[in-house]
Amino acid sequence: MRAYMAGTGRFLPPDVLTNADFVRMVDTSDEWIVGHTGIRTRHIARTVKNADMAEAAARAAMENAGCAPADIDMVVVSTVTPDRAYPSLACDLQNRLGLPDVFCLDVSAACSGFIYAVDLAARHILTGGARTALVVSSEKLTPTVDYTDRASCILFGDGAGAVVLKGDERQGGGWLGSLLAARGDDGAALQCVPGGRIKMDGHEVFRFAVRVMPEVIEKLLARAGRAVSDCKFIIPHQANLRIIKAVQRRYALPEEKMVVTIDRYGNMSSACIPIALDELNRAGRLEPGDLLLAVGFGAGFTYGATLFEWSE
Ligand code: COA
Repeated sequence: MRAYMAGTGRFLPPDVLTNADFVRMVDTSDEWIVGHTGIRTRHIARTVKNADMAEAAARAAMENAGCAPADIDMVVVSTVTPDRAYPSLACDLQNRLGLPDVFCLDVSAACSGFIYAVDLAARHILTGGARTALVVSSEKLTPTVDYTDRASCILFGDGAGAVVLKGDERQGGGWLGSLLAARGDDGAALQCVPGGRIKMDGHEVFRFAVRVMPEVIEKLLARAGRAVSDCKFIIPHQANLRIIKAVQRRYALPEEKMVVTIDRYGNMSSACIPIALDELNRAGRLEPGDLLLAVGFGAGFTYGATLFEWSE
């Protein structure tokens, strides 16, 4: 039995905030933002709800996978910015997509949410609990952004990414495992109280990220008996280009191996990784057998990595 990615999708809301827009809002400059974060533009959901973005990304992934609503027997959504506290975004999505009465669950693991959600879905498939799982990461962060705090407001954007995970009886390939972790005692470094705004100690988050990303990459690859050099692409969470570059330098990786979208989209929390994956897929850059490693960290702190072979 294997669980493999059968299709991907994404949605980015149409409105865009450029660095020039921030120059009009706070004391900053394009040079500072690009130099310290790598970000040039981010999309913001002015007119769409989180569920609208999740639905659009899910439909795109289902179409890409060639699967009908009746095929889906599990929905896992990662979000820390649902439109309402309950019902879950997963149940909302089930209703919007006309899915049968299936397992629907929201996961709250902040920017590591996609890695956590894929793990849940893949394990469910591998133990016979589901055959076709819809995994969606959808984040409408911008209403929680404090647009008077120049150190954090420039970082975030909105968007949604989705994958369809399928199970079949073939051996090998597909999802190869993941490593999930959390460190709750550092929780105050990055938080948002209900109805509130993002509060962040940027330096602490930065330090944590550059420490744990290599740690989980190495542990996961060692467990799978693979090396960083075996990976076609590393898809890191997109929080700061300098964090991504630090990982790249540590393994002396060629630039094209590290997937970067932060310049165009900023940090969309758990949506970053599946959006980047969908871009690779739709650009025809993935071949069966390609080894892909996604790695992330976020509020909690949560962190983790997931490893899979692109399969048909
Ligand atoms: N424009 C201009 N100056 C700014 C600025 C902005 N948007 N934001 C901060 N500054 C100033 C600071 O006030 C400081 O000024 P000072 O030296 O006079 O005190 C100076 O720039 C340097 O600030 P510093 O905080 O050291 O910058 P930095 O290079 O560490 O970058 C972050 C700050 C927030 C971009 C960076 O720490 C970061 O990305 N951290 C990770 C955050 C993150 O990823 N959060 C989400 C995780 S999922």
